[in-house]
Amino acid sequence: MATAVPGPSPAAKLPARVGGANSSFRDKSKPMEVRLSNMTAAKAIGDAVRTSLGPKGMDKMIQTSGGEVIVTNDGATILSHLAVLHPAAKMLVDLSHAQDIEAGDGTTSVVVLCGSFLNAAEKLLEKGIHPTIIAESFLRASQKAVEYLTEISTPVDMKDRNSLLRAAATSLNSKIVSQYSSILSPIAVSAVTRLITPTSSNVDLRDIRIVKKVGGTIEDTELVEGVVLNQNAITSQSGPTRMEKAKIGLIQFQLSSPKPDMDNQIVVNDYRQMDRILKEERQYILNLCKKIKKAGCNVLLIQKSILRDAVTDMSLHFLAKLKIMVVKDVERDEVEWLAKSLGCKPVADVEQFTEDKLGTADLVEENEHAGAKVIKITGIKGGGKTVSVLCMGANNVVLEESERSLHDALCVVRCLVKKRALIAGGGAPEIHVSRQLAQYAQTLKGMEAYCFTAYAEALEVIPTTLAENAGLNPIAIVTELRNRHALGEVNAGINVRKGLISNILEEDVVQPLLVSTSAIELSTETAALLLKVDDFHLTR
Ligand SMILES: Nc1ncnc2c1ncn2[C@@H]1O[C@H](COP(=O)(O)OP(=O)(O)OP(=O)(O)O)[C@@H](O)[C@H]1O
Ligand SMILES: [Mg+2]
Repeated sequence: MATAVPGPSPAAKLPARVGGANSSFRDKSKPMEVRLSNMTAAKAIGDAVRTSLGPKGMDKMIQTSGGEVIVTNDGATILSHLAVLHPAAKMLVDLSHAQDIEAGDGTTSVVVLCGSFLNAAEKLLEKGIHPTIIAESFLRASQKAVEYLTEISTPVDMKDRNSLLRAAATSLNSKIVSQYSSILSPIAVSAVTRLITPTSSNVDLRDIRIVKKVGGTIEDTELVEGVVLNQNAITSQSGPTRMEKAKIGLIQFQLSSPKPDMDNQIVVNDYRQMDRILKEERQYILNLCKKIKKAGCNVLLIQKSILRDAVTDMSLHFLAKLKIMVVKDVERDEVEWLAKSLGCKPVADVEQFTEDKLGTADLVEENEHAGAKVIKITGIKGGGKTVSVLCMGANNVVLEESERSLHDALCVVRCLVKKRALIAGGGAPEIHVSRQLAQYAQTLKGMEAYCFTAYAEALEVIPTTLAENAGLNPIAIVTELRNRHALGEVNAGINVRKGLISNILEEDVVQPLLVSTSAIELSTETAALLLKVDDFHLTR
């Protein structure tokens, strides 16, 4: 993929040597070569993910440099793991990432579309049309395309759970975990709808925490209205693992004897002195534990420490005696989320540990869920700001893909919060827009008309690829699809299950308007950007 940028050809250099009155040398062939090299590299990326588009798309197996194996269907994930060298190819990886951030789904489509636009542009360049004209026409065509898409979209109400479920299920259709979409889509819909108010225009997906545990199957995945902890309760000193009416404290200091900053050695040769040191230590730790108890805390979350032990056997022993449930190894970056979810404040000094810093919950309980031990905190007072999803799977490969798919489904529901409109899927919108644009092109003059027609044709890559991946004859299917649309069936799409064209809404294949519009806008922008590049330099 690391296509080298070709240098000027010897023939082109000739006039420079000969010289002339106004012979400031310009190599005319270089801009074209740079452009074509960029396009070739970018199209290669499009081709790399093309086969994974749609419900019958293939999956990719990726081995990372660390030896980890990933099996995935998600465009953004595939691309983010490729070792891409060419700068233009990197732009397509970024494009997929941009779509992932903006919409979350459609990360394969966006790259496939961009590849197709570049292909169309290449043909227009061959005809001798100036790249700037192509780029500008494409951008204008994309605006038109978005208009046409908006026209055929249907508004959706966030209370209409059925529509949300259908959209989430469609995004899960094309994943490895598709047979579990009836379990995962309600989870995604409930998680997002819990966090929104009727007027909200966005959801922060960081408020939905996905906790992965190996064990059981994907069917055991569940939504917990509260907090699920990654860590387990400490039972080495037989401390409690269940606490009703919990008062939860989150501490960032250590329950062990202090250590000096420098390495040092103390030699004690008197037994009484040694005894005193041990007693001091015991007293110090006991004091800490008593102060924690005094504040009324009965569940203690302890942040991971690198300076010294966060807890010792002795402190655990005291805490168990005081009937305080202990969870250690809370990561630094979890602290903020836990504080928000539990309504507690992280405390860095024992003197500051007072009752007002504690969070309250009805129940904190560690129990076994499909073979994995998990702590759930439910009935949080003043809670409801966050939710957790406990994601289960038989092994890590399945679990990771299940999490990614769930993320896509959550993003789809979030898209509907951002822009409350749905369109059909299965290639229907692309064909509709393609036809409309082709018609519109007839009202234009000159080069622009050419460019619009080429752009319209390029959009057909989505239905073509869907048909190809489903093992159907792409030319026959797309022709029929176009005919059906010409007969006025706006929702006719490729029914990949039955291998024919049918009303795709009856198949419940719907997707958020935002996913499609953002894919078209972003991919056209990238294609236009690449078209306008005519030189390439390396900096030192
Ligand atoms: N049951 C179905 N029948 C026909 N087409 C479908 C069906 N389900 C999904 N599609 C289509 O498949 C395409 C989406 O495929 P896919 O989910 O593999 O890629 P993506 O959404 O672009 O990228 P990713 O999900 O990897 O971020 C959309 O065009 C959608 O309309
Ligand atoms: Mg998808």
